[in-house]
Amino acid sequence: MEEERIYSLEEQELDEEETIRPARIDEYIGQQDAKENIRVFIEAAKMRDEPLDHVLLYGPPGLGKTTLAYIIANELGTNLRTASGPSIEKPGDLAAILSSLEPGDVLFIDEIHRMPRYIEEILYPAMEDFTLDLMIGNEGNSKSIKINLPPFTLVGATTRAGDLSAPLRDRFGIITKLQYYTEEELEEIIHRTSRVLNMPICEEAAIELAHRSRGTPRIANRIFKRVRDFASVDQEEEISLNVTKKALERLKIDEVGLDDTDHQFLLAIIEKFDGGPVGIESIASSIGEEVTTIEDVIEPYLLQMGYLKRTARGRVVTSKAYELLKIEYQNGLFE
Ligand SMILES: Nc1ncnc2c1ncn2[C@@H]1O[C@H](COP(=O)(O)OP(=O)(O)O)[C@@H](O)[C@H]1O
Ligand SMILES: [Mg+2]
Repeated sequence: MEEERIYSLEEQELDEEETIRPARIDEYIGQQDAKENIRVFIEAAKMRDEPLDHVLLYGPPGLGKTTLAYIIANELGTNLRTASGPSIEKPGDLAAILSSLEPGDVLFIDEIHRMPRYIEEILYPAMEDFTLDLMIGNEGNSKSIKINLPPFTLVGATTRAGDLSAPLRDRFGIITKLQYYTEEELEEIIHRTSRVLNMPICEEAAIELAHRSRGTPRIANRIFKRVRDFASVDQEEEISLNVTKKALERLKIDEVGLDDTDHQFLLAIIEKFDGGPVGIESIASSIGEEVTTIEDVIEPYLLQMGYLKRTARGRVVTSKAYELLKIEYQNGLFE
């Protein structure tokens, strides 16, 4: 009984996530360049009655890669098939997915950089000529056969475009980097979420949330929902600035949107490595995070905001970060 209840709660969260996710390109806020280009390419593909060229979307988590993949399929009016790099364990898995595609389908492969190279190679002829090269039979007595695939569009998403092999990357006709969102765009996203979830928010509160969302729609939506919880408990009918500030404090999100993990990361470099320069592996082991998590999730925003610098000798915390953390800046004085 207990389990059932928890399960249905989770499902509700998931459903909510899906209602918040924009389904059409006109509802997709920001990413102006990427959006306009993709709009044109979709239009052109439809006019020619050809599949859209393969699309690679890359950038930090939560910026809208999966959302854009869904939107592309919707705008093309085709089905979306999804898979993810780590879930494709053997060549047969990928072959099975490819051979089940219908003409015009969009195949979305999330975390495409995590596919092993020998599996990835199956994609080359599939992307280029819509064929599947299969080896059948056993060792010493095997032959290769070609199977024709229907025309399809591969949409790949990755947090690290640099980890993709060159031959795979070269087979994408459209390569798009998603950027962190401006505060104005995040504000728009928050107002949209507020409408979709039917929970009004006052202007100042929306501005505050946008300012503290780390440039990331997923974070904006996540903290919107938590702030909504606080507002509901306080029986507020509209999310106020007051309750927003209270919730953000409880969530340990600072005035510029950095969270506990960001703080730990910066503090580790300052306290254990004199502010740097220090190698990424050393920081990783000192805070118990994976190198990839640091590189893909934590660092990009800190670099963009100028709290961190990458030098040839390692990571360096800037004076701006010392100021934020209210620690006296000594680094650099003796260099
Ligand atoms: N451009 C956007 N406009 C409105 N909401 C967005 C936008 N991009 C992302 N979101 C919201 O943020 C959430 C996370 O986006 P998602 O596509 O899952 O990110 P990614 O796949 O890059 O990690 C989505 O559920 C969606 O509601
Ligand atoms: Mg995603």
